[in-house]
Amino acid sequence: MYDFARYLAAKRSVDDRALNRHVWQTLAEAVGAAAPAGRPLRVLEVGAGIGTMVERCVEWELFTRADYTAIDNEESNIRAARKRLAHLTSGSGPGLRLNLQSANLYDFAARQENSQRFDLLIAHALLDLLHLPTALPSLLSMLRPGGLFYFSINFDGATLFLPEVDPALDSCIEALYHRSMDTRITDGKPSGDSRTGRRLFRALRECGAEVLAAGSSDWVVHAVGETYPADEAYFLGCILHFVESTLQGHAQLDADAFEAWLTTRRRQVARGELAYVAHQLDYCGRVN
Ligand SMILES: C[S@@+](CC[C@H](N)C(=O)[O-])C[C@H]1O[C@@H](n2cnc3c(N)ncnc32)[C@H](O)[C@@H]1O
Repeated sequence: MYDFARYLAAKRSVDDRALNRHVWQTLAEAVGAAAPAGRPLRVLEVGAGIGTMVERCVEWELFTRADYTAIDNEESNIRAARKRLAHLTSGSGPGLRLNLQSANLYDFAARQENSQRFDLLIAHALLDLLHLPTALPSLLSMLRPGGLFYFSINFDGATLFLPEVDPALDSCIEALYHRSMDTRITDGKPSGDSRTGRRLFRALRECGAEVLAAGSSDWVVHAVGETYPADEAYFLGCILHFVESTLQGHAQLDADAFEAWLTTRRRQVARGELAYVAHQLDYCGRVN
């Protein structure tokens, strides 16, 4: 059975490999240079899931002292984050004060108007699920002048399942899957874009934000020998589940051929034969 919290936990090692090190390094240097004197860095992470980015920031030593607010609109994710990050909230961790909240980003942003703004804003594997022209101004409004942003793992229009099974069917499934991202409606509004990665260059400029670094952060998942690292076989099972639940019953897809395709792909995972690539881009930058 598919479990979203386990999917996010399995995604951690995939993301760790994928994150663009040039972008991360640029961010780390900018955070170091902008560290406020006499108080902790104020960090906001939006769509934080079960808290794997919090762990990463601590393990990869992005900051020494931080007040870190992490929000997600799913209460169950925040509950999982509280459990997972208990060792960081117990007082024995580094200079980190964690505030985990179940909140929708738009409601949260509306409540921030008269509050102190943040030094660093993080959105990881989130922006491609949102309507960029609505979300970006709202997100960036929560940064203080000169504040930094880190927007990582933004999907950018290429998915590969390898080896090819039937090139025409593979391409059709990939194209329909991408189109489903472009036509997704959440709460009655458009949400998501299969080319978010490349569109961020322009969208950020239009919001008056400066890009300090950008680079690719492709997921590349494959077995070593017959074994996938960590829980990545589960991660692949989830990706196939997302494709199945999105495209099941699609008018442009032969139902039997699609079912056979899924069976073949799942067998490939079981044998360590499936390789999966998703093209994504990372950005870090600053607002004026
Ligand atoms: C693909 S998951 C990524 C989670 C986490 N950043 C990670 O990579 O492990 C996207 C997350 O964003 C959250 N989310 C989506 N829309 C949101 C919104 N409008 N406000 C707050 N959180 C949101 C979802 O609940 C989900 O946990």
